[in-house]
Formats: sequence, structure tokens, C-alpha cells
Amino acid sequence: MFKWMTRRLPPPGAVFRWSCLPQPERLLELAESAASSPANAAELCDEFSAIITSIWINDVNKRTARGRLPLTLSAIVDALPRGIEKVRCLDLGASDGVSTHDLVCLLREQLRVPVSACAVDLHTRLIRHDGRWLREYRTSDGSPVLLRVGPIGLRLGRTLSFPPAELCRTLYLQWRRLRAGLRPAQVIPLIHPLAAGDPDITVREADALQHCPRFAGAFEVVRISNLLNLSYFSRSEIEQIVGHAVTYLAESGLLVLSKNQPNGGATAERGSVWRRTGAGLRRVCDFNGGFELRDWLRQFEAGETAARAAA
Ligand SMILES: C[S@@+](CC[C@H](N)C(=O)[O-])C[C@H]1O[C@@H](n2cnc3c(N)ncnc32)[C@H](O)[C@@H]1O
Repeated sequence: MFKWMTRRLPPPGAVFRWSCLPQPERLLELAESAASSPANAAELCDEFSAIITSIWINDVNKRTARGRLPLTLSAIVDALPRGIEKVRCLDLGASDGVSTHDLVCLLREQLRVPVSACAVDLHTRLIRHDGRWLREYRTSDGSPVLLRVGPIGLRLGRTLSFPPAELCRTLYLQWRRLRAGLRPAQVIPLIHPLAAGDPDITVREADALQHCPRFAGAFEVVRISNLLNLSYFSRSEIEQIVGHAVTYLAESGLLVLSKNQPNGGATAERGSVWRRTGAGLRRVCDFNGGFELRDWLRQFEAGETAARAAA
């Protein structure tokens, strides 16, 4: 679908909200306003996450919001041992990091110990490329996200259901000479002001499919929410990501996998928690029926070495 590019996101319920797309530059304004006026921060921050949710990259949506993972958070709090001295969390596929911030705040409040987190996502910024009469927004690895021509916007990061729009998208993406002539003009961070402003949260642009040796044994909690979807990854890729995650856990650390599944108009969170014991995992609990691909992960429960799984 072609969209009207608006300076702000129209309020929920506005008649033509579906036909509008906020300019990504609005994210910069929101980050600045949240820093300079903490009283309005919550409202500004929700607009920030709503704009991030409107972004698609390589047919993957960056959906995010404050308070989106309450059951996952409770399951983590319940499974952490009382008397733990510090909690280091890794959030894989963290989007703008606002749900990482929710996790850090809840653990600080409930456990009253130092809590830190590393939010990892494949895409943490957009680069605006300008031409004479158009703007294209790309990720730092060059994946196309959005095209803007005057007031009209066209999503480049997802297959479009409206055939004329999909034809324009395909033709534009094939127009290599024009696209190669565009010049980088501005960097737009996709990190939520609440996460960016928390000194105990670090953000890393990385691919969960690649093993990160620096993370080995470094975390009491590794959470992967709404990333391990069959529409994004094959079974072997999902097993690879989980295999890496197991190696990132400290002894007795928790692996938490969850997914928000459509349930009428709302979504229902389903997930499972495992504890690392030696080189394998032991399942601690399931909520709402457990993580949907739980049975695939039996190989890790059976105690197969994490190192072999990560190889
Ligand atoms: C639907 S969002 C989930 C956000 C958050 N975890 C939540 O549940 O609210 C999925 C995120 O995974 C990121 N992602 C997709 N593939 C990835 C990969 N291979 N490595 C790291 N992040 C990835 C996307 O950029 C997107 O921000």
C-alpha cells in the first residue's frame, strides 16, 4: 500500500491512521523531547515504540511496546533463586529495547540487587539516503526499509499485498543505478529513549545466528521473545540460535523463550523457562501451554553438550 508520510503518528482511532506512516525522523525528535521533558516521557516513549512497530525489514516486523511481556517477566522473577547477588541479562531480538528496560526495572524492584542487560538486535539504526527527489531509508547492512517521494511513502522492507504497490517496490529495488547514486544523509537510532538512557543497559547490533564468544557463560538470564518464528527461521537456524544461547548462560542461568500469539483482538504470551545444569538444560516451568517449539529443544534437555550444539 502507498502511504501518506506524516510528521507524527495519528492518534489511535483516527479515521485515516491506517493510511499514514510517520516519518522516521520523528524518532529523533521524540528521543530529544523525552530527554528534555521527563514529565511527558511515558507518552512520548509510547509513540516511539509505535513508530518502531510500523517498521518492517526483510519481511520481519520490529513490533515492540512497554509492558508487552508480563507473563515472561513474572516467570523469570519466579525462577531466579532468592539471595542471588546480581543479575546480568541478555535479550536477543530486543527491537528498540523497551522490553529489556521493563525487565531490568522489574528485576531491580523485586530483587533489590544490581541488574544489567545487553539488548541485541540485528537492526538498531536506519540510515537515510538522499537523492534529488527521493529519500530511501536503509539499515546499516543496506537492507531497504522505506522509500519517500514527496508526501508518499512506500514500504520496501516487506512484500506488499496491494499489487500496484508491490510492482512499484519491485521495480524500484531493481533500479540499481539510481539507488547507488543516493548519498547517506542522516543516522536515525532505533533504540528507545528509556533503554538508551539507562546506564545498565547496553545495546549491540548483532545477528543471533552468529556465536559471540564474549558472551560465553556471562548471563544469569537469556531471554528470546518473539524472535524464534518459523516465518523468520528454519528449524536448524532456530536450533542454532538456542545452541548459542545455552553457551551464554552462567551455571544455573535461565533460558527463557516466549511468543505473543494472536488470541482474538489481543495476544496471549506462551513460553517456557529452562535452567542450565552443566552443559545441558533442565525445564523449570511453562506458562500458557509452554513455548510452541519446546519439543524441538529436547536435545538440549537431554544434556547434549552446549558446545556441540553451538558448533
Ligand atoms: C517482533 S520483534 C521482538 C521484540 C521483543 N523481543 C518483544 O518481544 O517485544 C523481533 C526483533 O528481532 C530482530 N531480529 C530479526 N532477526 C534477528 C537476528 N537474526 N538476530 C537478532 N535480531 C533479529 C528484529 O530486528 C526485531 O527487532
